[in-house]
Amino acid sequence: MHNSEEIHTHSDVLKMLDSLLREPAPFWNEFYTNREKKIPFFANIPDENLVSYFEKGLLKHGKTLELGSGPGRNAFYLAQKDCEVDAVDLSEEAIQWGKERAAEAKLPVNFIHGDIFEMNIEENSYDLIYDSGCFHHIAPHRRMSYLDLLHKALKPGGHFALTCFAAGGQYGGSEISDWEVYRSRSLKGGLGYTEERLKKIFSDFQLIEMRKMEPMAECSPTFGIQDMWTALFQK
Ligand SMILES: C[S@@+](CC[C@H](N)C(=O)[O-])C[C@H]1O[C@@H](n2cnc3c(N)ncnc32)[C@H](O)[C@@H]1O
Repeated sequence: MHNSEEIHTHSDVLKMLDSLLREPAPFWNEFYTNREKKIPFFANIPDENLVSYFEKGLLKHGKTLELGSGPGRNAFYLAQKDCEVDAVDLSEEAIQWGKERAAEAKLPVNFIHGDIFEMNIEENSYDLIYDSGCFHHIAPHRRMSYLDLLHKALKPGGHFALTCFAAGGQYGGSEISDWEVYRSRSLKGGLGYTEERLKKIFSDFQLIEMRKMEPMAECSPTFGIQDMWTALFQK
């Protein structure tokens, strides 16, 4: 028997469950190789909800971590708002693109190539954690690790903001159960969430605002598409 296929710890169980699903890094790397593709979130503009949090005074500058940042459209907005931004993504291609964009725009974003579950994070170190479109690609068995990461990384009173697929949406948002993910060995393009489910998952945090994303016109300076939940929580 393969030594690496023995299960001794909880972490071994997580790794075994990972192995039942598509390996994410090669998929996301391939995804970003053609920058000309007509992907709505390839446009270098920030989420409308993120902008609205700053405009309403719900968020202000601070040390920020962006999970699954891609090439950094939201990270750049946060840097413009004087946040000190660490932007993490699994895809080397996305990180390279982000670094090029940062150099062009002369914006100080710290792009980090890596898995959000393998970062060495200092406890209580971030004022804000932002996730736009990464959480719905996280497999159910990693959701607890995701919550642990939020608890560990956020300062008391720190904020967590999320944009994710609503169940049964136009762009994705599969309505399968957590168990079905493992029976079918797939997240079917990304998991869809209901308002109730999100409230339950993040119930340790105080809910500040939850609403659907506002669809934006193509020429708008902010990004918005239908069938996405946006939420702002506080630790
Ligand atoms: C739908 S894209 C969104 C990208 C970016 N946030 C945006 O909105 O433009 C999801 C991103 O999450 C990243 N991702 C998925 N799982 C990850 C993980 N475990 N660690 C780091 N990044 C991850 C992917 O590489 C991909 O860039």
